[in-house]
Amino acid sequence: MKIVNPALVPFRHDHLGPRSIRHERENLMREKPNRRTRLLTGSLTLVVFGVLALIATIGSALAQNQTSLSNLFPFPDPSGVVKTFTTDPRGKVDLTGPFFQQLGTNGRSCASCHQPSDGWTVSAAHVQARFTASAGLDPIFRTVDGSNCDHHMDVSSVAGRAQAYSLLTTKGLIRIALSVPAGAEFRVDSVSNPYGCNETNTLSMYRRPLPAANLRFLSTVMWDGRESSSQTGTQKITYPTNPGDLLLDLAHQSVDATLGHAQATAAPTPDQQKAIVNFETQLFVAQAVDSNAGSLQSSGATGGPEPLSTQSFFIGINDPVGQNPFGTIFSPTIFTLFNPWVNSSETAKASIARGQTIFNSKPISIAGVAGLNDAFFSGTPIVGTCGTCHDAFNVGNHSVSAPLNIGVGDLTNPLGVGYLPVITLRNLTPGATVQTTDPGRALITGKWADIGKVKGPILRGLASRAPYFHNGSADTLSDVVNFYDLRFGIGLTAQEKADLAAFLAVL
Ligand code: HEC
Ligand code: HEC
Repeated sequence: MKIVNPALVPFRHDHLGPRSIRHERENLMREKPNRRTRLLTGSLTLVVFGVLALIATIGSALAQNQTSLSNLFPFPDPSGVVKTFTTDPRGKVDLTGPFFQQLGTNGRSCASCHQPSDGWTVSAAHVQARFTASAGLDPIFRTVDGSNCDHHMDVSSVAGRAQAYSLLTTKGLIRIALSVPAGAEFRVDSVSNPYGCNETNTLSMYRRPLPAANLRFLSTVMWDGRESSSQTGTQKITYPTNPGDLLLDLAHQSVDATLGHAQATAAPTPDQQKAIVNFETQLFVAQAVDSNAGSLQSSGATGGPEPLSTQSFFIGINDPVGQNPFGTIFSPTIFTLFNPWVNSSETAKASIARGQTIFNSKPISIAGVAGLNDAFFSGTPIVGTCGTCHDAFNVGNHSVSAPLNIGVGDLTNPLGVGYLPVITLRNLTPGATVQTTDPGRALITGKWADIGKVKGPILRGLASRAPYFHNGSADTLSDVVNFYDLRFGIGLTAQEKADLAAFLAVL
């Protein structure tokens, strides 16, 4: 597949083109319009993505489009096309606001890690491409949190940088440094980190950037919910306080991200915070075209980002343990986007519809999930479905804040987590120890029971943002499916696995 669109020229994306072209463009942007137009009438060819070639023919339309993306602008991804729909009344994604500005001291903007082409996060493949194009100098490659550790890293040569940023280029991981909170029920016995950063007072966790889009469906901000927690001076997101709570949390998040990731010396101004939150909460991202099945709105299906932007949602809309504010009973039928494709004569469409049915109805024996079995079922196993935890209709996150440990950060993760540190925690009272690669929510609450708990993220725009899970342990959606099959002993057949992966790829 070849996508030709003159508007897709990554002026604002400091990494997408070969470095020389990028610099040429940056220079052009500083030039007077007549010279810019004259130079731009030439044609530059960019081979941007590994799998799909993107040919951007530079014409006069470019000069007008360089500061925005037209609404529903198509970005190719490994299995088709991802698009963003913005509810901005101007009808386009403005690329000039503070989200795209360098508000700190290290050249980064929010867009360094939250890219429109990558479902508003970063795919590892594109990070690797940025490394290659910039010889590891693109602003995402900064030792504050982009490298495997923040000290004793040799970033003076390309080879040194390749080693220092290996978790970022192979798994898309950012180092999140957090300390055990005062009054915690546990202490850190030891850290065994293959990259240094063995300190026990500040722990290094390696996490995937979450999408900065589809935010109005969030029931908690960040993997560990730390931007929606009293411990950080932010608000828990609840039905009566939503969406005011979310907007305040996101404003707080924008301050932390600017001071942290961008190493700013001062917080963004209230106007900048407002502009960032306003910008990101208008974005809806989803897969729009599948290479095999075609448009995800063909034959009556309602995939793609515009239907998502009108999807009804409120906190607790479909909670399985009785937290719907109106007492409405939980429905396991989470996704209905591809109902019209049931019985389709087209192979790819029929497979996707079968995958949706598996998601909605395949029985899963759920046992040992901290935050679910222990919290609501006295520790006994329950029979559920994918939707027991991914309950928000056509969105797929949990509709109330529900930190869970499904074992992704445990040493027993069948996908393998040998590239991560092993952190040994000791309970202060009984003295028991536990080993994990990421204590998750426990580093916010200090609670032993919260070790390893993270949120289930929104399941839209997945194809554009591999790898998956908070620690990038699933390189592909098939890996995700295999994880579930092994962890919960579901017993999926090869066909069921393929159908479920095909379905996840069109969300
Ligand atoms: C260096 C990379 C990087 C930069 C720069 C960055 N982020 Fe992030 N962002 C992340 C990571 C990693 C996470 C998840 C961290 C976690 O949960 O512990 C995240 C999470 C988020 C989330 C939470 C989404 C959710 O589902 O909870 C939002 C919103 C967000 N970032 C917005 C921003 C904004 C706004 C900026 C600029 C002010 C920004 N980010 C800059 C890496 C980055
Ligand atoms: C017991 C609760 C639970 C069940 C059941 C469950 N999930 Fe999840 N899911 C989660 C949690 C929690 C995460 C985040 C885990 C992490 O990253 O550590 C997650 C993450 C994911 C992700 C990764 C998203 C991303 O952005 O990286 C996908 C995809 C996914 N689940 C699909 C499924 C499918 C398909 C099923 C059914 C076969 C399923 N889940 C069943 C709780 C659950």
